Amino acid sequence: IIIQPTRETATEIAARIIARLLSEKPDAVLGLATGSTPLLLYQKLVGMRLDWSRVRTFNLDEYIGLPKEHSQSYHSFMWENLFKHINISPDNVHIPDGNAEDIPGSCKAYEKRILEEGGIDLQVLGIGSDGHIGFNEPTSSLASRTRIKTLTRQTCKDNARFFGSEAEVPKHVITMGIGTIMEARHNLLLAFGEQKAGAVAGAVEGPVASVNPASVLQMHPTVTVCLDEGAASGL
Ligand code: GLP
Repeated sequence: IIIQPTRETATEIAARIIARLLSEKPDAVLGLATGSTPLLLYQKLVGMRLDWSRVRTFNLDEYIGLPKEHSQSYHSFMWENLFKHINISPDNVHIPDGNAEDIPGSCKAYEKRILEEGGIDLQVLGIGSDGHIGFNEPTSSLASRTRIKTLTRQTCKDNARFFGSEAEVPKHVITMGIGTIMEARHNLLLAFGEQKAGAVAGAVEGPVASVNPASVLQMHPTVTVCLDEGAASGL
């Protein structure tokens, strides 16, 4: 658990962890997250001018039914905030397809692809105010794999700020499962601000329980949690 005075310094540490991995393993497999939390991380990684030519990425989640080009799709988010600024090959980018004809089939294929690429070396995670990781809402099975989930009212409310209104937030998503996330060799969880303090305290110090999905990370051998003082204030 790394507690820093600010989001800036906490993010700097997370960026250095990723930069070190890419220098040691230029063809690393990274799991990536969206939301406001990793935005500064992506800016810092872009500024570091790393070599991404052999890096492969898998994103945690995507909304179902939003066109890829929609400004709030996680596809757009990733290209806007990271991929278009680095030398990554589009063939090495994997994001769940929220418009696939056969979504359960595409979820299985996503899992298979992760294994074919050798598994995820490092997974970046944010945390929802209800403790969700990816879009694994409270009571998600701790053994779950990539699948369809329905968002809780709380998450729709939290994400309404990106869409204009709560009604416009898609209710269904594809997300890697908690079992998938637990197979990443290293999990790097970032959380900033007092509004995350309760979820972070539950994840780090609470009982391992599906009502706070992030708490399962207590069972993972290699997790780094980068917090600012606000997010750490419940510890
Ligand atoms: C979203 C994403 C999560 C993210 C979380 C927190 O719904 N699916 O991956 O960690 O909510 O979002 P934010 O970082 O904006 O607080």
